[in-house]
Order: sequence, then structure tokens, then C-alpha cells
Amino acid sequence: MDQYDGHGVASAIRVVPTGAALGADIEGLDISRPLDAATLATIRQAWADHLVLRFRGQRLDDEQLKSFSAQFGTLDLAPLAAAKDGHRQEPSYISVISNIVRDGKPIGGLGAYESLWHTDMSYVDKPPMASALYAIEVPPSGGDTGFSNQYLAYESLPADTRRRLDGLKLRHDSSLNSVGELRRGFTEVTDPRQTPGALHPLVRTHPTTGRKALYLGRRRNAYIEGLDLADSEALLDTLWDSASDARFTWYQQWRVGDLVMWDNRCTLHRRDAFDPTTRRLMHRTQFAGEAVM
Ligand code: OGA
Ligand code: MN
Repeated sequence: MDQYDGHGVASAIRVVPTGAALGADIEGLDISRPLDAATLATIRQAWADHLVLRFRGQRLDDEQLKSFSAQFGTLDLAPLAAAKDGHRQEPSYISVISNIVRDGKPIGGLGAYESLWHTDMSYVDKPPMASALYAIEVPPSGGDTGFSNQYLAYESLPADTRRRLDGLKLRHDSSLNSVGELRRGFTEVTDPRQTPGALHPLVRTHPTTGRKALYLGRRRNAYIEGLDLADSEALLDTLWDSASDARFTWYQQWRVGDLVMWDNRCTLHRRDAFDPTTRRLMHRTQFAGEAVM
């Protein structure tokens, strides 16, 4: 599509799907500058169609990352870091995701650990609808981020399983962060029926696309309200097999200057571990969401 970008040159933006179950590159666009209405509409449509978008070769400072993000929704303040010993962070719209240690203190969250499949902050009543991650430093290998399409995870379930999910609600654990660290002020959960955190429908309907998606949050300490613990565990295992099925996934291998944004309402993501002696530095924004329906 050719369009005038307001800066004196015609830009041609291309939406190039990954060919996997989700994900597309948006090519031919400098996202450090404000986007015109037509470009925004194209990107919004591509996001609804492909769930995860990647913009390569960008150069953004924090102000530009915030301005870019704010064109797609209301920004949420960064969640407080789980690490007990991190640098004190002032309230900010930018979170630092990094394993870098300065003066003996981690400058950001998640270290160099593997993170298991999850969607961001589903343990609150109004979880963020989306998140964007911008790569400033990447390790030579490892630290890839996987995404999984939860519309397909739902649609591929047998009809009787789908029927069983009608009306069921899931308790989403707030005690652990996405790399399994206990958050400040929480005690370890030993019985999932006692898990602290928000209750949401197991299946949610995406407000833009109208499609149904599995909404599992994360596996550990999850509990389907009203079921016997053993039944909850068994059904969750079945659902997670579908949610993490390799047919529904795509992996992002980071390059410096990549911005990847994902829709938390219809995707899960996870991260490979990487060599902790190498450096990875990402800046992240998060978009306010609605109650889960
Ligand atoms: C996140 C997250 C994955 C990564 O920022 O929510 O899960 O690749 N990050 O760092
Ligand atoms: Mn995450």
C-alpha cells in the first residue's frame, strides 16, 4: 500500500506473515515517528489477523517507545519488580527486562532464566491487553521468545471438551512471576485450591475479532473453581497440551532494533534461557486491558 507519511516521502508498508500459526513483520516503516491514520489502521488490522507483530531495524529511545505504544492503547505503569534486590525503580511506563547486573544489583527483571508459557499479569482483574518489547542488547544465542496462538488452541479441542469449558472459571496465580520467583509479600502455594489471584473465564471472546480463545494464564498453581482438585489438574493438563502444541507456535529470534508486540488476550509466550555471562537488555511497555469476558 502506498501512502503519504506526512514527512514528504511516500512510504510503502508491507505486512509479511511469518508463515507459522501467528506473527507477521511490518516492513518499510520507521516507528520512531508518529503514524498517520491509514498506517495505524493497517497495523491494527494486521495485529488482529496475526496476533503478534514485529518491526525490525528500529531505533527508539524511551520517549519514542512510549509514543509509539500509546498509539495502540492506554499505557499501564510498569509492574513492580519481583526481585528482592533490584535497583529501586521509580514509577514508569517503561519496564526493564534484563539480566545485566550493575553495582551488584540487577537493573531489570527476569534474569537469564527460562520462562514457561504464560500471558502477562492474568492474575489481576483487568489484565493488560498487550505488551511490547524492544531489543537494545541481545545475547549471541538463546533468549528466543516463543508465542502460541490460543484461538487455534481452543478451536482444535474436541467439541465435547469445548462444551465442558462453558461457564468454567480459572483461578490465576499471583504468587509467582513468569520465571517462577516468589513475589514480594507472598507465601508459597502448596494447594492450588488456595491460590491467590484473579478468577477469569477459561475461554474468552476477543472484543475485536469476536473469536474465542483459551485463556490459561500460566500452569503452576492454577485451579478450575468448583472442580475436584484431581479433575481440575487433569482438565488443565489436557488444555495445556493444546495451548503449547508446537503447531500453534512461532519463535522470535531477537536482533537489536526489533520491536515485537503481542496481544495478551489470544496468545501465550515463553522465553528460552540464555548464557547469564552474556547481556540481554529489553525495554517494555504494557497496554491497559478490560475485565475478561
Ligand atoms: C515479558 C516477557 C519475554 C522475553 O516481558 O513479559 O515475558 O523474551 N518477556 O524477555
Ligand atoms: Mn511475559
